[in-house]
Amino acid sequence: MREKLQELCHEALQALDAAGSLEDLNETRIKYLGKKGALTQVLRGMGKLSAEERPRIGQAANEIRSAIEERLAARTDELKVAVQEQRLRREVIDVTLPGTPVQWGGKHPLTRVRENIQDIFLGLGYVIAEGPEVETDYYNFEALNLPQDHPARDMQDTFFVSGGNLLRTHTSPVQVRFMEKTAPELPVKIIVPGKVYRRDDDATHSPMFHQVEGLAIDRRITFSDLKGTLDLFAREMFSPDTRTRFRPSYFPFTEPSVEVDISCVMCRGKGCRVCSHTGWLEILGAGMVHPRVLEVSGYDSEEVTGFAFGMGVERIAMLKYGIDDMRLLFENDLRFLQQFR
Ligand code: DAH
Repeated sequence: MREKLQELCHEALQALDAAGSLEDLNETRIKYLGKKGALTQVLRGMGKLSAEERPRIGQAANEIRSAIEERLAARTDELKVAVQEQRLRREVIDVTLPGTPVQWGGKHPLTRVRENIQDIFLGLGYVIAEGPEVETDYYNFEALNLPQDHPARDMQDTFFVSGGNLLRTHTSPVQVRFMEKTAPELPVKIIVPGKVYRRDDDATHSPMFHQVEGLAIDRRITFSDLKGTLDLFAREMFSPDTRTRFRPSYFPFTEPSVEVDISCVMCRGKGCRVCSHTGWLEILGAGMVHPRVLEVSGYDSEEVTGFAFGMGVERIAMLKYGIDDMRLLFENDLRFLQQFR
């Protein structure tokens, strides 16, 4: 029996040494130490031994079990290290290889154009003001000299919301909101970027679009100041050789009122499809702030004057980048957006 045990031990240790993987080791463990393993079988047979032989064989068997377990643990450690080393050898990092490119986001063309507009006016000493998109009838119309039943309300295609409020149809209400807060302080020089809403939807109109409003109030501000300011804006925004044209128009909140054109960005004024062969493109509405608007906002119209203007950001973006359908600006198609990096 003793010899059989010795042989078993020898065999088991050899098998452990020969094992090439952790799986092999486990198989060997089961083969010798498992429930039906060889050593276990031998120990089961101990019942047949004589009373004096039993303790000695038992001790020998325990020693052999310990020896096998020890070797098993040592080999397990060895093989774990080997597996790790093998993996490290395979995963060499070549720091000279080019990296995986990171996907960079970019600014939406409307954001770029809005920031561009803002920068030009910030450079002239204007500050940015904002107002609510859900507006009252008073600020959107009444205070801007557009009383109930005024025919000019028709053109504003207004979305009404509950409680008699509405979605602002232009950024002009912020003129009044701002002046109310600052009156009678001078000067007032603000630009107001923001979303506006009108019931309109086609290639050149969207029910939600963006405007930038401008307002300058001080003593002795004249129409020449308005012309000089918008002239500079057109040259900065489009190109240094861009010319402006002021046509008489009507807005209830300005008097006199104008619509401002720039020389066509495509044909430089010669006449083409984009400018309907006129050489000019309309870009904004403007005028001298109506005395009534000054008065309701807390300014003395005998003391101060001012000008205001309002432009559509989408329209400016379409002209600047030659975009022929406004809907492209809202579809978030990357093939379109990636062109504005
Ligand atoms: N609020 C006008 C609109 O949306 C644009 C406008 C015209 C704004 C003349 C002004 C202005 O400040 O003076 O149609």
